[in-house]
Amino acid sequence: MESNKVRQTFLDFFKSKGHEIVPSAPMVVKGDPTLMFINSGMAPFKDIFLGNAAIKFPRVADTQKCLRVSGKHNDLEEVGVDTYHHTMFEMLGNWSFGDYFKKDAIAWAWELLTEVYKIDKSRLYVTVFEGSVEENVPFDQEAYDTWKLYVEESRILKGNKKDNFWEMGDTGPCGPCTEIHYDGRSDEERAKVDGATLVNNDDPQVIEVWNNVFMEFMRKADKSLEKLPAQHVDTGMGFERLVRVLQGKQSNYDTDVFTPLLNKIEELSGLRYKPEDEDKHKKQLIINIAMRVIADHIRTISFSIADGQLPSNTGAGYVIRRILRRAIRYGYQSLNIKEPFMYRIVPTLAHQLGQQFPELNTQKILIEKVIKEEEISFYKTLEIGLKRIDQVCIDLTASHTGKVIDGKVVFELYDTFGFPLDLTSLIARGYDLSIDEEEFNRLLTEQKNRSRAATSVDTDDWMLIEKNKKSSDNTIAETEFVGYSELECTANIIRYRKVKAKNKEQFQIVLDKTPFYAESGGQVGDAGTIENINEKINITDTKKENGVIIHFCDKLPENMEASFVAKVNRNKRTFTENNHSATHLLHAALRQVLGTHVEQKGSLVNEEYLRFDFSHFSKITDEELAQN
Ligand code: SER
Repeated sequence: MESNKVRQTFLDFFKSKGHEIVPSAPMVVKGDPTLMFINSGMAPFKDIFLGNAAIKFPRVADTQKCLRVSGKHNDLEEVGVDTYHHTMFEMLGNWSFGDYFKKDAIAWAWELLTEVYKIDKSRLYVTVFEGSVEENVPFDQEAYDTWKLYVEESRILKGNKKDNFWEMGDTGPCGPCTEIHYDGRSDEERAKVDGATLVNNDDPQVIEVWNNVFMEFMRKADKSLEKLPAQHVDTGMGFERLVRVLQGKQSNYDTDVFTPLLNKIEELSGLRYKPEDEDKHKKQLIINIAMRVIADHIRTISFSIADGQLPSNTGAGYVIRRILRRAIRYGYQSLNIKEPFMYRIVPTLAHQLGQQFPELNTQKILIEKVIKEEEISFYKTLEIGLKRIDQVCIDLTASHTGKVIDGKVVFELYDTFGFPLDLTSLIARGYDLSIDEEEFNRLLTEQKNRSRAATSVDTDDWMLIEKNKKSSDNTIAETEFVGYSELECTANIIRYRKVKAKNKEQFQIVLDKTPFYAESGGQVGDAGTIENINEKINITDTKKENGVIIHFCDKLPENMEASFVAKVNRNKRTFTENNHSATHLLHAALRQVLGTHVEQKGSLVNEEYLRFDFSHFSKITDEELAQN
C-alpha cells in the first residue's frame, strides 16, 4: 500500500466511526510559552483538554506534523543513526473529547490494524499501565480486560510509568496509555527469541506503532495529579513506522516516504545509499547515516519555513538554523558535498507530499530560496572556520609546545563556526595532532548550564478566588474581552499565580472581564492599572496562554476578592494601534511593488515603532523603496 493511501485509509476509517477529519495544525507554535513546536498530535488540542476552549466536535481524526527536537520529547541524536526516529514526522490520531473512552478506542485500533490494514496478529503485542504506588494510580484493569477480548494474555504486557504513562511536558494533561508494538523480525528469529521480551527494549525490529492515551489527569506544578473534569482519548500512530510495517520493510527509510528523497541525495552526491552493506563497511555506514540525516532534516526545514518559521538567531528560528546546519555538515563531512545542495531536494519533497500538505507547493519557491541563502552563508562560515583550524594546527606544530589542541579553541570552533568535535578532530589528525576533549566537554556543559539558567521559568499553580468564579462549566470562556470597544471596565480577579523567571518574581492574574488586549500577531500587549479606592496595581503587560488572557503585575492587591476598575493605558494603546494599521498598509505596498509572494513572516508592533518581517529573493533596490 502506497504511503498516501495508508494515510487516507486511516482518515476514512475514523470518518466511518463518526469522526470529523481536520487538517494538521502548523508545526510552529505561537502563543504557548511552554511549547516551541508541536511535539505530538495532542498539542494543538491542549486548550480543549485543559477546558480553556469549547469542544466543537467530540470526535476528531487527523494527521499532525510533529517535531521532536527540543524540550521533553527530543529525538535528534537518534535520527539517522537508527532507522525509526525522526525529527519531523506525521502522527495519525483519533480523538475523543469527553466522548468515547477505553473500550471503543481499543476496539477500533485493533479493527483498523488487523482487519483493514490486515497486519498479522501474531506479530502484535500490546502494553497496559501496571500502576504506580507513588502516583496513587492503579493498574489499568479496564484496558487489560478490553484487550483480553481480542488478544491472548501472553501478548498483553504490563508497562511502567516511563513507557505507559504519557505526559506532554512538565505540567499539563496526562494519563495512562496502552501501546501497540509490531515485531518485524524473520520467522526464524521469532522462533528463537520470544518477541514479548523485546518490547520497549530498543530492538530496531520490534517497535511501537501506536499509542492510545487515556487523558484522565492534570499534572500540576507541584508534581501532584488532579483528576480532569472529563475523560478524553488521545491516540498517536507514527505514520512513517506504520508505512514501514505495511510495506514489509526493515527501515522507515526503505519506504516510499523516504526513497525519493534518498534517490535525489544519491544523485546530488554521486554516492549510493546501501543499507545492506553498512554492517560490513564502516565507510558505507557513514554515508548511509549522512543520507538518512539529510532526508530527515530536509522535511523539518521545509515544513518549518512553509509554516512561517525562517531560520534565525533566536528561539524556534535558531533551532531550525541548527538543524539545517547539521544536515549541511553531514553532507560536507560524509558525502563530500562542498556547495549548496539541500535546496535542490525541495521539489522532490513537494512532489511527494504536496497533495496532503499544499503549503509545500504554494511556498516552494520561498523554501528553496531561504534554504539556498542559508547554505551559502554557512559555507562561508565553514571556510573561515577551516582557515582558523588550519592556522591553529600549523602554529602548534611550529611551536613544538605539544600535540594537543586547546579545548578552548575546539569549543570556539564548535560554538562560533558550528564545527562538531569529530570534524575538528579529523582535521587535527591530518596534522598528527589531537584535541583536548575533556576541556571541550567541560566548556560545553558550562554553556548548557548557563543557557538553562537563563531560560528557566518557575511557574506556581493557579490559585482560585472562589468567590469570584463565574461558573464550573469548563466550556465557557472565563474572561469576557471588551477591549475592542472599551478601554475601562469593572473587573474581578478569578485566579492568580506566581512566576519566577531570571530570578525576578512576578504575578499573573486572570480577570472575569477585561479591556486589556493580549499580545498577538506581533502587537504588544496592553499596559495600565487595576484600581479601586483602596489600592492601585500596575499591569505591566498582557499575554495569552492557551487561550487565556493573562495580566502581568509586580505585586498583588491586598484584597484579592475586591472589585476593581481595569484601565488600559490609552496613549500606549492608540499609538500601538496606529502602528498596527501601518503594518497592513506596508504589507499592501510591498505586495504591490515587489509582488504577491510577500507574506508576513513575523512582526513587532509597539507604541514607538513597527517591524515587519518578510522574505524577498533579492535586496530591495532604492528605486523600489521610493516607488509610489
Ligand atoms: N500523545 C501521545 C503520544 O504522543 C499519543 O498521541 O505518543
